[in-house]
Amino acid sequence: MSTVEQLSPAYSGFSVNPFAATKRLQVVTLTEETLKAFEEASAEWPVQALEYKPFLRFAIADALDRACNMTLGKCLNDIMQDRATGAFMLQYEGQPVEEVTDFNVKLSTAVSHLIGIPNFDAMYGKYYARFTVRNTDSSDSYLRKAHRRMELHNDGTYVDERTDFVLMMKMVEKNMEGGDSLLLHVDDWQDLDRFYRHPLAKQDIQWGAPPSKNIEYKIQHPIFFEEDKNGKPHMLFIDQFAEPQNMAQGLYLHAMGESLESDENCVNVRVPVGAMLVVQNHCWLHGRDKFVAHDGLERELLRQRGHFTK
Ligand SMILES: [Fe+2]
Repeated sequence: MSTVEQLSPAYSGFSVNPFAATKRLQVVTLTEETLKAFEEASAEWPVQALEYKPFLRFAIADALDRACNMTLGKCLNDIMQDRATGAFMLQYEGQPVEEVTDFNVKLSTAVSHLIGIPNFDAMYGKYYARFTVRNTDSSDSYLRKAHRRMELHNDGTYVDERTDFVLMMKMVEKNMEGGDSLLLHVDDWQDLDRFYRHPLAKQDIQWGAPPSKNIEYKIQHPIFFEEDKNGKPHMLFIDQFAEPQNMAQGLYLHAMGESLESDENCVNVRVPVGAMLVVQNHCWLHGRDKFVAHDGLERELLRQRGHFTK
C-alpha cells in the first residue's frame, strides 16, 4: 500500500500523488484490480452502444466509480473544483484484455461523465474526437502541426457553449521525441496582474475559427470573461482565433501571447500512452511542445471537452 493510500483511507482502488514538476497536478493511478473490475462491468457495452445511447455513458461512469467503492468520482470532482489543483493525470496499472483503443474510449467516457458531460465535438461529429499527428500536414490550424510549439491557450474560445474541462488522452505514439504537453496555471502566470488590471481585460474580443473546426459563427467575449466563486479570474484565450478589430486590441493580444510563451512557470508534462490529462479549462492554459522530425512519427490523441454538471 502506498503512502497516500495510508494517509487517505477513503480512497479505494486507486492512488493519488502530486506530479513532480507541479504539485497542482494530481496523478491518479487505477490499480490493476480496478482495471479488471471496470473491464468486466463494461464488457456488455461496445463503443458503438456508447455513441448511440447517451445514458450508457453515465452507466459506464457509474461502473468505474463502483469499481472504486464510489470514491473515485468524489475525488476527481474535489480535484477539479479546487482552483489550487484543478487538473489530474489519470493512468492505469496492467493491460486491458479487450482492444486497447476501445478500452481507452470507454475509460475516457467514464472519467468525463464522473466530472460532467462532454460537448458535441463539431470537428469529429461525436461527443469525443480522435485525431492523429503525423510528420507532414496540410491542415488549417496548428492542431496537427508537429514541428512547432502549439502555444498556451484555453479551449472553447470560439464556441458559444461552456468548456469547463478538457480531457486529452494519448492513444498511440510512435517515433516521438519531444511533444510534451505544456501547462500553466493562471495563478502561476507572472504577468497575470498586468493583463487582468488592463483596461481591455473585460472588453469584448471577436473570435472565429478556420473551416476545419466546422463552426460557422463568430462570437464575442472578453479574455477575462468571469470570476470564480472566490473572485479569481477565469480566462479564455487562444492566439490563432482572436480577431482583434483595432490596434489597441491587437497589441494587447500580441503582448499577452509573448508573455505567456516566455513564462517560466509553464511545466512540461510527458503523458504516457494510455494516460489522460484532464484540466479545468478556465484556470489552466495548455499547449504542446514541438516534436523532433521523424518520417515514421505518429501520435493519436483522444479529446473530450465539456461542462460541469454540479
Ligand atoms: Fe487545446
